[in-house]
Amino acid sequence: MKILRLLERKQIHQAAELLINSSHAIALTGAGVSTESGIPDFRGEGGIWEKYKPEIYGNIKSFIKDPSKFWKLAEKVAPKLFTAEPNEGHYALAELEDMGIIDAIITQNIDELHQKAGNVIVYEVHGNINRFTCFGCRASYTKDQVMRKLKKEKNYPPRCDMCSAPLKPSVVLFGESLPTFEIYQSQALAEKSDVMLIAGSSLSVDPVADLPRYTLSNGGKLIIINEEPTYLDDKAEVVIQHKTGTILPALVEEIKKIKSMREPTESPEEE
Ligand code: APR
Ligand code: ZN
Repeated sequence: MKILRLLERKQIHQAAELLINSSHAIALTGAGVSTESGIPDFRGEGGIWEKYKPEIYGNIKSFIKDPSKFWKLAEKVAPKLFTAEPNEGHYALAELEDMGIIDAIITQNIDELHQKAGNVIVYEVHGNINRFTCFGCRASYTKDQVMRKLKKEKNYPPRCDMCSAPLKPSVVLFGESLPTFEIYQSQALAEKSDVMLIAGSSLSVDPVADLPRYTLSNGGKLIIINEEPTYLDDKAEVVIQHKTGTILPALVEEIKKIKSMREPTESPEEE
């Protein structure tokens, strides 16, 4: 277990108590939970938007004008996305779902690492890098089909076999609307939740950055684990500025410790 300062241990205990006593806790995650799996985030130190301007490489209008720019960025980042494995933080969140502590994960991440780590109820509000659609006729392509096309056709963007329009990963670019069901379901979950565990997000992109306010508006509490400050830190019950890959497993251990003290295992005569 990595060395944690006394302050962090106290904050972890406080967060664990909040989660154990909650009835509808949910998790909201961002790119920061995947950096320890080798996937760069967007606005943290050395993040993607530091090197590639989002208005050119991550915007739907620029994609329509010249899809090859987006594909050049995808060529750099996709291999890390496709080969990444879940880290300790992902597995800790899967355990929180297994323990019945969190009902669901709302994620801005497109890397599917929560599902790979074992989480079942995951709402991907910014889409998923493993699915592709044709920008013209909406035909859908798998990742393997697109990789084969890129190898064979050797040019960007890969084009649709049916209508030769450019293909696009099913991820939400700036200027695009979010998947309707996922965002409405996330708002409903946030409204109902009495504790929202926010991990690895700068909370800087709407409408997701607004979701914690739905929780606060109903008297719910926020726990924020992020290396850098966020705009909601002063409204959160617990703020831990540390790595999610360290804090989330420690949080699971603390919950188990508190539960074992509260519900000591049945002694034989009680059976
Ligand atoms: N542990 C804790 N925090 C971390 C870690 C880590 N191991 N690594 C990075 N962070 C923090 C960074 O300091 C940053 O504040 O995670 C945060 C990630 O923020 P962003 O890079 O802005 O990612 P995110 O909040 O998911 O961005 C939202 O913006 O560009 C769009 O569609 C993109 O889904 C993305 C959305
Ligand atoms: Zn097509």
